[in-house]
Formats: sequence, C-alpha cells, structure tokens
Amino acid sequence: MLNELKKLKDQAIKEIQKSKALDQLRGLEVKYLGRKGELTKLLRRVKDLTIEEKPKFGQLANEVKQELSRLFLDFKDRLEPSTPGSSGAGEYLDLTLPGRRYLQGHLHPHTLIQYQLEEIFSNMGFLVLEGPELESEYYNFESLNVPPAHPARDIQDTFFIKDKANQVLRTQTSNQQVRVMEKYGAPLRAVFPGRVFRNEATDSSHETTFYQWEGLMIDKDISIAHLISTMKTMLKGIFKQEVAVRLRPGYFPFVEPGFEVDVSCVICQGKGCTVCKKSGWVEMIGSGLVHPSVLRAGGLNPEKYSGFAFGMGLTRLAMMKYGIDDIRLFLSGDLRFLNQF
Ligand code: DAH
Repeated sequence: MLNELKKLKDQAIKEIQKSKALDQLRGLEVKYLGRKGELTKLLRRVKDLTIEEKPKFGQLANEVKQELSRLFLDFKDRLEPSTPGSSGAGEYLDLTLPGRRYLQGHLHPHTLIQYQLEEIFSNMGFLVLEGPELESEYYNFESLNVPPAHPARDIQDTFFIKDKANQVLRTQTSNQQVRVMEKYGAPLRAVFPGRVFRNEATDSSHETTFYQWEGLMIDKDISIAHLISTMKTMLKGIFKQEVAVRLRPGYFPFVEPGFEVDVSCVICQGKGCTVCKKSGWVEMIGSGLVHPSVLRAGGLNPEKYSGFAFGMGLTRLAMMKYGIDDIRLFLSGDLRFLNQF
C-alpha cells in the first residue's frame, strides 16, 4: 500500500503540472483529494494494515496530502486570471493608471521660519539655544530688572503655577538672557527661539501661546549700529529683499536705551495697506542695549562689556512673511491652513 501511495503522489504531481486551465486543475483536486478521491480511497483501506504498518502509512499519507494541497494552490495562483498587483503569471501593468499619491508630512510655518532664522544667525556666529518653558520668576522677571510688584509686570499677563511657588509659564524668551550669561560669560552671541505663554483673551492678533525669537550679543564696545545691521541682515534673509527699519524709543525694563524697531511693510512695500494700518511701517521688534543691572545679574562687568538684545514674535514674523491674517490659525490644527505650507 505504501507503494500505491507513492505512485498516486507521482501520478498526481505529473497531472497537476500538465494542467493548463483552472477547470482542469479543480477536476484534479477532486479526483485526488476529494471526498471520494484516490487518496481518500486508499486511506479507507488502512484498517487492513498491521499495527506496525499503520503509523508509517498514516504519516506518509499526511505528507502526500499536504504536498498536493500546496501544489494545487500554487498552480491555481499561476492559472488565475491576474489582477493588477497580484503575483500571478498573467500579471499586467497598466501604465495608464494614475500614480498613487503618497501623503507626505511637512513643516509647520513656525518651524519653517525658525529654521530660516537659525541658518541666518548661525552664519553670523550666533549659538542657537533653547530654554525652559516652566521658569522661575527670577529668570522671567527679576533678573531682567523687573522686581516683584513692579508695574512693568502688568505688561505681560502671566500664568502663575498654583502648587509651585515662584514658577511661571515664561512670558518671554528674554528668560534666557541671564541664564546664558551665567553659563557662557562674555563675549557672547546667542539666539533663543521658543514658545511663550500669556493669559490673553484671544482674537485675530492675540494668543495664549505663541513663539518668540530673541537674540543677545555681548562684547566690548557693542553699539546700536551692531543692533541695526543685525536686524537688517535678519530681515533681508527672511524677506529676500532689503527691508528698511525705523527705531523709536520704547520701554523695556531690561534695556537702556530701549527701542521699538519698526519694519517697512513688505506687503505694500511701505505704501500703506491694512496690515500696516496705512502707515507703511509694522511694529515688529523690541530691542535695546542691555541694561547694566541685567549684565550684573549675569555676572558681567558693565564697565567692561556692553551688548544689545532684541526680541520679537516669531508668529508675527510668519504672519508677515506668509500673509496670514489670523494668529489663531497657527495652533488650530486646521489642515486646510496647514497644507498650504
Ligand atoms: N521680551 C519682550 C516682549 O516679550 C521683547 C523684547 C524687548 C526683548 C526688548 C528684548 C528686548 O530682548 O531687548 O515683549
């Protein structure tokens, strides 16, 4: 009977390999593996075998069954009329089908602007440093010449943290100024990108969470000329054109003198539009020469060193660059907005 089994297997394999159509193959499957098929017939005769022969026969019969089943599947696959993408023998490639579009991620406008600024400032030799968002009142205010209860605190509506004494969500990236002076000393060139928080009622130009970009340069004999040329280099790098700036006196407790740097409106080229409120200028950057008490807080001697500092809304800059008129879009997660970048 073992021989019969082997013969049956060889015969089946031969016939399967010769089969040319699916119908033929299905017929063979029934002939050999069907309920009334050859293999089943042989198996019915197991009862005539001796006790010793039975297991051997059983095992071989199983192997034959598995091998033939695999072979049937394999050939079915080859004979099946193929669909595009299948591995069947008759597979065809329809070159007229449109390609599949892959969804690719892209950078958020905040990140785009930040990367551009990082490149511009790295080229000028500035370090790019990030700092903590949960900050002590000391670095966010006191070290910057804003003592507790000073009216200048009112300018920045602050999130105080309930269970953490003297901790705030930083209101400005200026929190980094004294930190980096302590860490790196002078001379020093560094920029600080980062997220800041204010307890604001939101509207099209105010958000509770936004991004700033801050810079600090300290050396011997640093003057306002260094500040202006750095600002112009930065603006030219971002807007790819010469951008005029205008300095007005401005009050920030950590600089003396302090300035508001107005930027010639790049939307209307200074002619006057809704973005610049018909003035041709957009208020964009706070700046000044670092106050002697801030230098001292950073462990530096104001008799020896001077420096400039500036800070601005990175979000604002992105609005200007990309012509975005509502700040709330940035964190809205609205794909109709984000997919434009
Ligand atoms: N930190 C200020 C703000 O959030 C901006 C600023 C003004 C930064 C003057 C500076 C500066 O470094 O010198 O409004």
